[in-house]
Amino acid sequence: MPPTGTVLIVDDERSMREFLRIALERAGHTVVVADSPAAAKAVYSSRELDVVITDLKMPGGSGLDVLDGVKASRPHTQVVVVTAFATPETAIAAMKRGAYDYLTKPFKVDEIGVVVERALEKRSLLRDNLELRAELEGRFRLDRMVGKSPAMQRMFELLKKVAPAKTSVLISGESGTGKEMVARALHHLSPRPRSDGPFIGVNCGAIPEALLESELFGHVRGAFTGAVSDRPGLFSAADGGTLFLDEIGELGSQMQVKLLRVLQERKVKKVGGTNEEEFDVRVVAATNRDLEAEVERGAFRRDLYYRLNVIQLHLQPLRSRREDIPLLADHFLKKHTAALGRPLQIIEADAMAVLCDYDYPGNVRELENLIERAVTLESADRITRASLPELHHKPKSAPSVTPGTEIPEGGIDLERMMGEIERDLLEKALERSGGVRKEAAKLLGISFRSLRYRLAKLGVGPAEDDDGNGNGGASGDSSGG
Ligand SMILES: Nc1ncnc2c1ncn2[C@@H]1O[C@H](COP(=O)(O)OP(=O)(O)OP(=O)(O)O)[C@@H](O)[C@H]1O
Ligand SMILES: [Mg+2]
Repeated sequence: MPPTGTVLIVDDERSMREFLRIALERAGHTVVVADSPAAAKAVYSSRELDVVITDLKMPGGSGLDVLDGVKASRPHTQVVVVTAFATPETAIAAMKRGAYDYLTKPFKVDEIGVVVERALEKRSLLRDNLELRAELEGRFRLDRMVGKSPAMQRMFELLKKVAPAKTSVLISGESGTGKEMVARALHHLSPRPRSDGPFIGVNCGAIPEALLESELFGHVRGAFTGAVSDRPGLFSAADGGTLFLDEIGELGSQMQVKLLRVLQERKVKKVGGTNEEEFDVRVVAATNRDLEAEVERGAFRRDLYYRLNVIQLHLQPLRSRREDIPLLADHFLKKHTAALGRPLQIIEADAMAVLCDYDYPGNVRELENLIERAVTLESADRITRASLPELHHKPKSAPSVTPGTEIPEGGIDLERMMGEIERDLLEKALERSGGVRKEAAKLLGISFRSLRYRLAKLGVGPAEDDDGNGNGGASGDSSGG
């Protein structure tokens, strides 16, 4: 069946209006008529139309005004102009101004039928495209995040399911994978009034243990030297909203106990205080460590882990969801050109290929930094390969084992593999620190003793100690193994 739609006919000549009305109604269209540009305006500004057929020469004004008016208020409505005389210039001018087609009087009923049909097809194609694009954009976007990989699509679905509940959520993933973004999305997607409430983030690794307690729970005046007045903690500040405990794996053992009690009782007591206050806070924690392994080796309390980990959202490293790279790259391109007030650039295909091939140890943050840098340095309208720094690739032959790797057919030798990873990282840390072991230990987040023990075990680096203390060994090395 040919498509039908709503058609507005604009003509000052009554016989012409009637002729067109009958023809089009017979073809199944809904017809509205107007005898002047002004009357037409009243129609197109108040209702949705698929096609407008307008005469060009009318006493009340030009059909070109109708054309302009329709295009301005309803850009997807198709306009067909009718000219009484064979004046191709006006017809062409109308086409240039956005008319879909033109008809020259006199014309046959069939002719008008065909033109309207094609205009309707164009119109529905436009509508489909728009809907498709909107739908795709919606599907690949949640809150401020974008992602089309199956892993991110699953993450979006989970987020939508989890956000309405008040359950604690633990977000895990390597550095730069978007943990904080997910935490914010959970907050924004929470039901009101929580989503309108505060989102408070605290980095548990950045605040010394001694201060963290008063930071989180507040203190009363005189609780310790320097506590000159009562101060509310972050739990109170986040009341009615979301508290984001970032780098929860860095929490010391004493704070782990205190936090557990607060989460169990849903009440906080200020440092030095006696009153317990209730709070209504959704707690979201994040870690880039393998917290379960920390629990296994006794560095993180199992009971607290279970309390926080009611739901776990794990973010895959970017290198294992490469489908997201082009989408993210374009997203950051838009973001940073807009921030600089520049017109939008494009990323050339071979530059995109380079981006898609890289491993991103710093994950999404690293990709964003690359794009931001390229946008800042590149004043031309496109990002080329030359706008990107040399991106070093790991040789593909060396099997690199990353968390989440599948076990191959023949199985693996875990001890040997772990040894290799450890050796690789130790060597890299020493290289980066110029051989200074204290620095290398810092880079690896382990103690100097632990580093020395590991180096000895794996036979890496010089045999001499660089702290002059020959008493090496594993004693007191709680993180060994
Ligand atoms: N899916 C995504 N869509 C858009 N931007 C993203 C996405 N994921 C991450 N980003 C951007 O990448 C950067 C790093 O994200 P975020 O700070 O959330 O990572 P993180 O996992 O908390 O990192 P870290 O462990 O280092 O704290 C941010 O600038 C964020 O805007
Ligand atoms: Mg973070």
